[in-house]
Amino acid sequence: MNDATSSSSASKDATINTTVPPLSDMTLAEFRSNTSETIWNELLVLGMQPGVCNLGQGFPDYSGSRVAREAAAAAMVDPSMSGINQYTLPAGLGSLRSAICAYYNKCYGLHGGGGGKKAIAPENVMITVGATEALFVSLKTLAGPGDEVLMFNPGFPWYLSTTRIVGATPVLVELHGPDFAPDMEEVEKAITAKTRVLLLNSPHNPCGHCYTKKEMEGFARLALKYNLFVLSDEVYENVTFGGVQHLRIADEEGMFERTVTLCSASKLFSLTGWRVGWALSTPEVLKGLAVYHHNTSYCAPSPLQHGLSVALEAEDGSFEDMPKLVEGNALLLGDALKEKGFAITQPQGGHFLVADTTPLGLKGLECAKLLLIHAKVGVVPGIIFYFADPKDSNGGSGNKGGVDMDRPLLRFAICKRRDTIEEAVRRIRAMVFPSKH
Ligand SMILES: Cc1ncc(COP(=O)(O)O)c(C=O)c1O
Repeated sequence: MNDATSSSSASKDATINTTVPPLSDMTLAEFRSNTSETIWNELLVLGMQPGVCNLGQGFPDYSGSRVAREAAAAAMVDPSMSGINQYTLPAGLGSLRSAICAYYNKCYGLHGGGGGKKAIAPENVMITVGATEALFVSLKTLAGPGDEVLMFNPGFPWYLSTTRIVGATPVLVELHGPDFAPDMEEVEKAITAKTRVLLLNSPHNPCGHCYTKKEMEGFARLALKYNLFVLSDEVYENVTFGGVQHLRIADEEGMFERTVTLCSASKLFSLTGWRVGWALSTPEVLKGLAVYHHNTSYCAPSPLQHGLSVALEAEDGSFEDMPKLVEGNALLLGDALKEKGFAITQPQGGHFLVADTTPLGLKGLECAKLLLIHAKVGVVPGIIFYFADPKDSNGGSGNKGGVDMDRPLLRFAICKRRDTIEEAVRRIRAMVFPSKH
């Protein structure tokens, strides 16, 4: 090394940074906006403490589809199926896409003719890593900076954060208790020239409302009038109560071409850890989703896709009696909460029951903490599902970085074994709430 080289490397050394650069501006902005994620993570840890009866996060405490598990496990070790442990095509395993078509076409009476209800073919199906990935790649495809995405408040928290992450603007339409049905006039009022996507969810998380035929027709009318895409999250489609039929917005006249339907094996087969979901739409729209799917997950786990194809082919519509179990759980828990003075919205479907804490004189977060400390029952306060209006930059009352802290709602996960719900009921019945002293 000559003198010139050594002096230049010495001056470079002098500029070496000992601190790492900051994360991207967008990530830091998301940290600031997404307080609900922090609260959510804290609650998850608390709910998993020993001795806690955990009705917090919506995962089942039973094993999920036996047929799917056995088929996946057998395929993984079967020498004649060694290819099943490798990548599938990005759109998904052919047998699963075919099984999905057969299932939907039969279950919802879909056919090739006009008048809505178009049959689904394999080119209408893309398998994703859960509905979470399907939500992300769909929003990335349909909306971007300058576009508005219309969604309901309360709603699944990922809608707001994913919309922000893809650079679009969330616009909130309030759902009002006790039934939390959408008000079409309020929806139409919220539509602007920038609205690109109407984000629907039925059965609804957390409120359990299932859209009626009239509501579906109302959404279809708005989507056609204002030329909107509809992103329809139907992950709880097989869990409806009291004879309520699940309706698909894609089956309304003129809606198939402008709808992306999100579905999930997490919910259909109680296999939340498998991370398999699917998006249903036209090949043209799925081509857009594929751009982002290729660059994020590429494909969902192959042996698990196989297990699900076998389970779907064998499915007789009873889903190992899971929907009946959840319906019974809703009634049992609802009765106990009513006795304790909560105002209950009996769900029409889905995996949750919401309770209003107002009659007890408590805020949701306060009541969730009391239930955890005194009854050792873990629940999620409604604040997680209530977005503060993003336009409300000074926060308003109780707004802590995107979370509306004052909401008097609790969400109980009811996708649990009957003995888990019975234990929670026993503990809640035994608890003395402060305002009852
Ligand atoms: C309404 C809703 N959509 C999507 C998801 C995500 O489902 P997945 O596990 O398939 O990613 C959930 C999970 O809880 C949900 O409640």
